[in-house]
Amino acid sequence: MSGIMNGHRETITVGLGGRAYDIHVGHGMLDRAGQYLKPLARGIVPVVTDRHVADLHLERLLQVLTNDGIAARPIVMAPGEASKSFAGLERLCGELLDMEIDRTGLIVALGGGVIGDLTGFAAGVLKRGVGFAQIPTTLLAQVDSSVGGKTAINARQGKNLVGLFHQPRIVLADTALLATLPRRELLAGYAEVAKYGALGDADFFNWLEANGRKALDGDEAAMVRAVAHSCAMKAAIVARDERETGERALLNLGHTFGHALEAATGFSDRLVHGEGVAIGMALAFRLSVTLGLCPGQDADRFIRHLKAVGLPSAIADIPGPRANADELIGHMAHDKKVTDGKLTFILLKGLGQAFVRDKGPLGVVHYSVGVGRHRI
Ligand SMILES: NC(=O)c1ccc[n+]([C@@H]2O[C@H](COP(=O)([O-])OP(=O)(O)OC[C@H]3O[C@@H](n4cnc5c(N)ncnc54)[C@H](O)[C@@H]3O)[C@@H](O)[C@H]2O)c1
Repeated sequence: MSGIMNGHRETITVGLGGRAYDIHVGHGMLDRAGQYLKPLARGIVPVVTDRHVADLHLERLLQVLTNDGIAARPIVMAPGEASKSFAGLERLCGELLDMEIDRTGLIVALGGGVIGDLTGFAAGVLKRGVGFAQIPTTLLAQVDSSVGGKTAINARQGKNLVGLFHQPRIVLADTALLATLPRRELLAGYAEVAKYGALGDADFFNWLEANGRKALDGDEAAMVRAVAHSCAMKAAIVARDERETGERALLNLGHTFGHALEAATGFSDRLVHGEGVAIGMALAFRLSVTLGLCPGQDADRFIRHLKAVGLPSAIADIPGPRANADELIGHMAHDKKVTDGKLTFILLKGLGQAFVRDKGPLGVVHYSVGVGRHRI
């Protein structure tokens, strides 16, 4: 991984040998998309997006690409998780095949994590692998899902169960696109930014305490820095452990609790993914404190920061009926990471010091969700 800073633009290289690629982060990057994509484009370039993003940003991207001599054709999917499905995949692959995309081609994903995951998966299986570019339009996608090559669709049995690793050829993260994102989605993505500070970089966490709010409130330089630093951290981890045989699991901090909370709320708009991750990270900190692994003041500081930016940090913050530990354990038992009733937990020794605890008994969840002993 390497990084170059240039005003409000930063470039990070994901060091994966022959499959290495650059992540360009900047304010106004969309307007330069043609110059970055031109060397990779062959023939017709499909641009896959969803209807919300199409209404806001597609026309400008198509214009920019046309100006640079790229023949782009849009494919507009329905917004929302339902497009990340076998039905969505069938439709997308059909349209791509109708455009006669071949293995030398390039498919562009313009959207949030749903469009990025679906397009990446379609690109990975179509003709056994076509190149694709990510132009992430949500904060979550810019700091997390567009980087690292995990692609997937959902199955009836659960989220992201059908997928493959297929790295993009380039990522263009334009922080200006975040201006149209609803505040709740912006905050949900910020949970993943805070995650990088918590899991491996206390200095970055200090910086977020001072600047995170500014970034969320529209300070361009602060947002570029927050996105670029998050991408650099993810890129470094992915370069060392692309297939999640070890260290990459740290990126799941807060996610197992978060997924269980999402399941307990029926994947409804009572709780969006990033909010589940925020509460999940708070629970991971609390559990680490209860197990005597982490100073209480570090957990308090992290939770204070979530609250300061406006993120939920406790199960009680979720509107509606409150999930209890047994219900959450029931959902966690179906997690991909459970073997023999034992779960891989990501715990913390302090701010910036996450570690993987293999084979933790599911019962310890009682300690962190407030049944009997701890309420947070
Ligand atoms: N591959 C990975 O490593 C990885 C990591 C984390 C999450 N994910 C996946 O990402 C998905 C969630 O991604 P998400 O939170 O970006 O959701 P999303 O793609 O559904 O986007 C959220 C909403 O924001 C809208 N939107 C997108 N960009 C916008 C913009 N600039 N302005 C206004 N509206 C905009 C979308 O239309 C959608 O309604 C999940 O499916 C999750 O499984 C994947």
